[in-house]
Amino acid sequence: MSHQGDPRHGAPAVVPDRLARSARALGAVGRAWLADLPALVASLEADWSITVGAPLEGGQAAYVAEAVTRAGTPVVLKVSIPPGIDAFAPFDRVLSALLLAGGDPYVGLLRHDVPRQALLLERLGPPMADLGWTVESQVDALARTAARGWRPVPDDGRFPDGAEAARWHVDFIPSTWEALARPCPEAVVDLAVACATAREAAADPGRAVLVHGDVHAFNALRGAGAGFRLVDPEGLASEPAHDLGVVLARGVREWIDGLAASDPRRAVETMARGCRHLGRLAGVDPEAVRQWAVTEVVSTGLFLLGLGHDGEAEPYLRAAGGLAAAAR
Ligand SMILES: Nc1ncnc2c1ncn2[C@@H]1O[C@H](COP(=O)(O)OP(=O)(O)O)[C@@H](O)[C@H]1O
Ligand SMILES: [Mg+2]
Repeated sequence: MSHQGDPRHGAPAVVPDRLARSARALGAVGRAWLADLPALVASLEADWSITVGAPLEGGQAAYVAEAVTRAGTPVVLKVSIPPGIDAFAPFDRVLSALLLAGGDPYVGLLRHDVPRQALLLERLGPPMADLGWTVESQVDALARTAARGWRPVPDDGRFPDGAEAARWHVDFIPSTWEALARPCPEAVVDLAVACATAREAAADPGRAVLVHGDVHAFNALRGAGAGFRLVDPEGLASEPAHDLGVVLARGVREWIDGLAASDPRRAVETMARGCRHLGRLAGVDPEAVRQWAVTEVVSTGLFLLGLGHDGEAEPYLRAAGGLAAAAR
């Protein structure tokens, strides 16, 4: 945590380091947002009749803190950093996804404020990542939870469709790779671009569903009942295989660590097995899952590297290196 002093308002906001890093990546706009955060939170406390408590760790795109309503109901306040980091879903899309989902398996939305980019959410339990579950049971539970969220989605431009989402990766991967001075073999970029291009060509708007787009074990929280609930949606009108690819790519950190530690042939086999398993579980083409998974592994690695999270980026790029080496 770092303390962002605010000379005008006195009270410092305690901001998780990951969030402070994201905000600083925005330059002057991000620094101003950090400086204004205590006043922003105070204004939301007053307008929504809530008392804000400790910040929650784990996020990087928003200030997320525990709060209680005047009636004593535990809730969570989420205030997004200003737009400008390409890979973070814009606030409007996060909001639209939560509104369309209308609760389970997504988190319940209690209030929102567009100008302040703020959400008031029902308070959920701990993230799946903290429950001590095996890698396999986490992957399964993430896939099943994502599947509960797939529902018809309006074709009105509110959410990027599958083709647009795939094209985003086709642009992002080579340009970020160049901007970061080519941090992995070119074959990795070629493989990911080929996979994303195949998903772009296969996109079928008529069959699109609401896709969360960032289902991982820190975005799946224990609900009141037995199931999990999803926070932090990207909000896409894409295919089910897209969510399943994300689950494999960054759902459970230990899964990607395992892939990174395998020799290239084993890595390809492990990936294929994971795709067959999730494809069967959800009734989805395993090859589509694989193409999204490879795309998202490479994008995630480059994205983390771009934000300066070198250690976290490493297993993604190493795993992708193995997959690309075996593909040649
Ligand atoms: N409604 C909630 N109830 C309980 N904890 C939450 C809730 N929303 C978020 N959190 C916690 O805060 C973390 C960051 O929130 P998240 O919405 O994922 O932010 P970011 O967009 O920065 O990733 C989550 O991983 C989770 O641990
Ligand atoms: Mg999150």
